[in-house]
Amino acid sequence: MLRQKRFLVKRVNWYKMDDFEPKIVAFCCNFCAFAAADLAGAMRLQYSPNVRIIRLPCTGKIDAIGLMKAFEDGADGVFVAGCLEGECHYLEGNIRAKKRVEYVKKLLAEVEIEPERLEMFNLSSAMAGRFAEIVEEMTDRVTKMGPVYISRQKEPVKS
Ligand code: FES
Repeated sequence: MLRQKRFLVKRVNWYKMDDFEPKIVAFCCNFCAFAAADLAGAMRLQYSPNVRIIRLPCTGKIDAIGLMKAFEDGADGVFVAGCLEGECHYLEGNIRAKKRVEYVKKLLAEVEIEPERLEMFNLSSAMAGRFAEIVEEMTDRVTKMGPVYISRQKEPVKS
């Protein structure tokens, strides 16, 4: 049994939405998205500071547990950004990552977290503007959904 099943997800209705700053984790391939993020910085493109980038040698390196762990550790949204399809330096890493993202979306739905909090994007190292757009898109999307609170209690809290 996957340990994700033990999660208790609770909406935090009392949270002041005006104060909400989403935490977004971005798993970025070294060859494309990370380089695009770097280029965006060099070009002084503006994007939300809510994103924390994790550099990977290839998006094929990320697995379902790693994606779920990001949510468990407090991320409100997660995205995986890999090379364009057909341009992965490890042939099929981005295709595998896409399948894992789709699988984890199903797991998120099972534990009552909106699957839209997780997304996969493909871009090239020259697409700095697109990277900035992706960050803005994810930040807007997650801000509208609000925070997610995950407790690892074994029994549901009775209200
Ligand atoms: Fe970029 Fe595989 S090398 S996704």
